Amino acid sequence: MPAAASKWTPESWKSKPVAQAPVYQNAAELAEVERRLGTFPPLVFAGEARKLQKSLAQVANGQAFLLQGGDCAESFAEHSANNIRDFFRVFLQMAVVLTYAGGSPVVKVGRIAGQFAKPRSSPMEKKDGIELASYRGDIINGPDFNAEAREPDPKRQLEAYRQSAATLNLLRAFAVGGYADLERVHQWMLGFVKGSPQAARYEQLAQRISETLAFMRACGITSENTPQLQGTSFYTSHEALLLGYETALTRQDSTSGDFYATSGHMVWIGDRTRQLDHGHVEFCRGIKNPIGLKCGPTLEADGLLRLIDVLDPKNEAGRLTLIARFGSDKIEKHLPQLIRAVKKAGRNVVWSCDPMHGNTITAANGYKTRPFDRVLEEVEEFFAIHRGEGTHAGGVHIEMTGQAVTECTGGANPIMETDLSDRYHTHCDPRLNADQALELAFLIAERLKEERTVQNAQALPTAAAE
Ligand code: PEP
Ligand code: CO
Repeated sequence: MPAAASKWTPESWKSKPVAQAPVYQNAAELAEVERRLGTFPPLVFAGEARKLQKSLAQVANGQAFLLQGGDCAESFAEHSANNIRDFFRVFLQMAVVLTYAGGSPVVKVGRIAGQFAKPRSSPMEKKDGIELASYRGDIINGPDFNAEAREPDPKRQLEAYRQSAATLNLLRAFAVGGYADLERVHQWMLGFVKGSPQAARYEQLAQRISETLAFMRACGITSENTPQLQGTSFYTSHEALLLGYETALTRQDSTSGDFYATSGHMVWIGDRTRQLDHGHVEFCRGIKNPIGLKCGPTLEADGLLRLIDVLDPKNEAGRLTLIARFGSDKIEKHLPQLIRAVKKAGRNVVWSCDPMHGNTITAANGYKTRPFDRVLEEVEEFFAIHRGEGTHAGGVHIEMTGQAVTECTGGANPIMETDLSDRYHTHCDPRLNADQALELAFLIAERLKEERTVQNAQALPTAAAE
């Protein structure tokens, strides 16, 4: 039966094939963990997910921009306030730059407080002649290369819930407790600009924001009397990969009767688990959270339209975010035809660009890395293609950290292949470091400004004619 025609329940995915699923040896222990998770409080509320969908609807309609980013894989070992704070600090700076340049709201969604499960291209990993099960993220098994660590352990799901709750608690405090004050975020950003070898390129925008803030202050608009300047909205997201965990945290909303995954505000379906008749699509079609769908080079236009039919049957703006992740050398071949098909079908989606996952290479010294130039190039292409198609380049989805790691090569303070070993801390894919993330934001700001100029130019004659 086609997915959409059968009855959905939070467990209906169990009758479908499920790719990338770990095999737990102790079924009774797994069942007990899932039962306990089912009794725990939700991490997010349905009303928050609905609010996010409304904001994403603005993105779908070309009136806002989506900034989604964070760790490839969160780690139990590196769960510290400093890590969370440093990520949030860089993320907010990016958002300020983008808000100003685009002249429209930036919807802020972290890959955080639940981003623990990883799909892998190979189920096994071989090192020095020894073969073990691959690491699948801290919610499933451990990264150490020994048989015990690599055994899936259900109890890890309880730890992932605990860490998600603690992280979310701190993020909520930062978002509304004064830490996210616009003036303060701007001061951090000025610090970055001053220290960057590209300072000349960024100074103009930074200066204009300074002047705007000074003007607002002169008019009496300050964070003391304007809550919008003192705090911000921040949402969480992760890949809905470990379906047992997601089901255990799925709750029926008492006001609407709808089901929501309460493990995060938004969840997405990965590029390896988006088969139409498989479990991940089945689970996601029934929950009411905003959903992301990764779109990689093997996705054809027909297949995409069928997925959209199942995931967003009512064509609700903000429900579905299509996250293009082709690679800088493939985006031009794949994205235009998908955009055209979606547009022709009258589908109201958010288009976002993940410039990370199609640009991973192995350096000569064996490190998995991403050349920053290729990341920038894919984003540039994404904007150029949307401009050509007359559609809105709605957002970006990136893997980043607030730390000065050496995981992606290039950038204004260039990281060389020989530097990769210095601070290569990721548990999975290479992330942009704080400077690279901000550089990317300034580049996107230039494109958003251009988009705004084009929109304004188009709007003028109509306004005059009215
Ligand atoms: C990811 O976002 O970490 C990921 C694995 O992406 P994709 O499904 O696009 O490969
Ligand atoms: Co990744």
